Amino acid sequence: MRKKIVAGNWKMNNDLNESIELVNEIKKILLNREDVKVIVAPPFTALDRVSQLLSGTNIGLSAQNMCYEDSGAFTGAISAKMLKSVGCEYVILGHSERRTLFGETNSDINKKFKKAISEGLIPIFCIGETLEERESGKMKKVIKKQIKKGLKEISPENFEGTIVAYEPVWAIGTGKTATPEQAQEVHAFIRKLLKEMYSESLSESTIIQYGGSVKPENAGELMGQLDIDGALVGGACLKADSFANIVKNA
Ligand code: PGA
Repeated sequence: MRKKIVAGNWKMNNDLNESIELVNEIKKILLNREDVKVIVAPPFTALDRVSQLLSGTNIGLSAQNMCYEDSGAFTGAISAKMLKSVGCEYVILGHSERRTLFGETNSDINKKFKKAISEGLIPIFCIGETLEERESGKMKKVIKKQIKKGLKEISPENFEGTIVAYEPVWAIGTGKTATPEQAQEVHAFIRKLLKEMYSESLSESTIIQYGGSVKPENAGELMGQLDIDGALVGGACLKADSFANIVKNA
């Protein structure tokens, strides 16, 4: 039985004080829930402080991105080692905003995946199609390419324990959620691909989150689908009570 994982991606929201306030409220409501794994992904500037505030709790800490290089002349970039040093356990990779707004390619994401693993960070590997790709019948092809290229040369041992997040681009921040049936169809497809690439047991144990306008009202039905093992939440994670209600509805 896969345990549900609900992660809140704060994106470029919350300065340091706002981050402290939000994480303290989340702690008050969600502390030490055993049935669902809760993860928060604050902006880089708040990671260190949020990490201290989460110490001794079972709420996980994730970064929203990282660089695949170790160190050096990469102005503005943050390495996996830096993230580890402030207590991150997870890192979101390949979010559609990184792909579309910052030009990240499948090959960049693959390099980041390898680096994250080698430094002991757990990737939350994001994939998803645009509306145009879905409507023109290319959805499965796009998803397959993102998976094959993003996970190129990742061994079963290194893939094990990582998280996949299916986020249809047309559902992110738009209020338009995929129906539970639409999401389930793609999740089952992803699980089948993972089985072909790795093994049945590895594919069955992999957590595949859904993301894209998840709210307390739709969280239960989405996460009630056979192959949907949690959620990656954007907008609705910025208020502690709505994030907590999504976790409760998981
Ligand atoms: P949203 O974002 O919940 O605001 O749609 C989801 C995400 O981008 O992870």
